[in-house]
Amino acid sequence: MPVITNIDDLKRLHRRRTPKMFFDYCESGSWTEQTFRENTSDFDRIRFRQRVAVDMSGRTLNGTMLGQPVTMPVALAPVGSLGMQNADGEIKAARAAAAFGVPYTLSTMSICSIEDVAQNSPAPFWFQLYVMQDTGFVDEIIERARAANCSALVLTLDLQILGQRHKDIKNGLSAPPKPTPRNLWDMATKWSWSFGMAGTRRRTFRNIVGHAKSVGDLSSLQAWTAEQFDPRLDWDKVERIRERWGGKFILKGILDAEDARLAVKAGADAIVVSNHGGRQLDGALSSIRVLPSIVRAVKGETEIWLDSGIRSGQDILKAIAMGADGTMIGRAYVYGLGAMGQAGVTRALQILQKEMDVTMALCGRRTLREVNRDILLVPRDFEGDWAENA
Ligand SMILES: Cc1cc2nc3c(=O)[nH]c(=O)nc-3n(C[C@H](O)[C@H](O)[C@H](O)COP(=O)(O)O)c2cc1C
Repeated sequence: MPVITNIDDLKRLHRRRTPKMFFDYCESGSWTEQTFRENTSDFDRIRFRQRVAVDMSGRTLNGTMLGQPVTMPVALAPVGSLGMQNADGEIKAARAAAAFGVPYTLSTMSICSIEDVAQNSPAPFWFQLYVMQDTGFVDEIIERARAANCSALVLTLDLQILGQRHKDIKNGLSAPPKPTPRNLWDMATKWSWSFGMAGTRRRTFRNIVGHAKSVGDLSSLQAWTAEQFDPRLDWDKVERIRERWGGKFILKGILDAEDARLAVKAGADAIVVSNHGGRQLDGALSSIRVLPSIVRAVKGETEIWLDSGIRSGQDILKAIAMGADGTMIGRAYVYGLGAMGQAGVTRALQILQKEMDVTMALCGRRTLREVNRDILLVPRDFEGDWAENA
């Protein structure tokens, strides 16, 4: 059994144990992958101030996200096709998150259905919505999330049209994989993955199949998105969805201070500063880089969370110190799931928690309330000296 000490170890195992098309689906950004790369490299530009001779006893990372107690300010981000990374992946991730005391978000494009995850995990989870053209389907899925006791709705705003990831096209990504010789060989060499898949019936997008009318080629995310997602989504529709849901409402995919203000106006209880993990607009700035401008615009008016590029507990602490109230992680837990199923998700969470705790202590702080920009060294040009928009 390999010794796992960091998120990168989980990534290596994920790559080894999961069919190439699904590892690549996770580990890609759109087009040149500039934004995907900068999401992580921009975190590396920020450094910590080491402080000494400060009482570091009695530390805690406890806090709340939307009033919900959490053991650290981290939620599992919605990830489509998670049940293809490892059999029954959504249920395993939801269970690991519940046991750890952090929220789990189920994607619209999940393999396990809302009802299935609700029946098979011990705590309420959040549901992430993509807006489809078929308003009947949207209304129905909101009702299904309510009936399943989901405790918040996460509306994703940055994917009405799909950013192109070259590898997905070259690999012929689909769920389930098409039985081509190449795929069959790949699956045969990933025996633990194949064994898991053989033992489950959850192999298609079960939130959609049997619910949406005129489901076209659902095995291809590319085709389905182009066909079904609503390109006319605007702030009026966002408000309509908020009213329809009536509960805790999170807007995900905010990367601009102006949009952050509009999100507050639309009634967001929290916003997620996110570029979808570099999977959508290539050339957009990293989330951590735009965070300060969004904090200046709306701090205190809504909870500000950040995702995209978090690979360590140090990254989480940097985001909090820069003004975020919480974070979401995507790939960091997907690597864990692909590597070792539910135990791998738990391992990812443990690694992040430990790294965060030790870093906080060495910066001379004992609680997240004491964490602010004073613990960081941020390059003067971090936000960038961009020309004003005329
Ligand atoms: C494989 C994969 C699938 C994703 N699917 C969804 C999705 O269905 N809905 C959504 O809102 N975001 C989706 N995202 C974006 C994540 O919710 C999150 O914003 C992103 O992963 C954060 O970046 P990180 O992976 O660098 O942490 C996906 C991300 C990945 C890596």
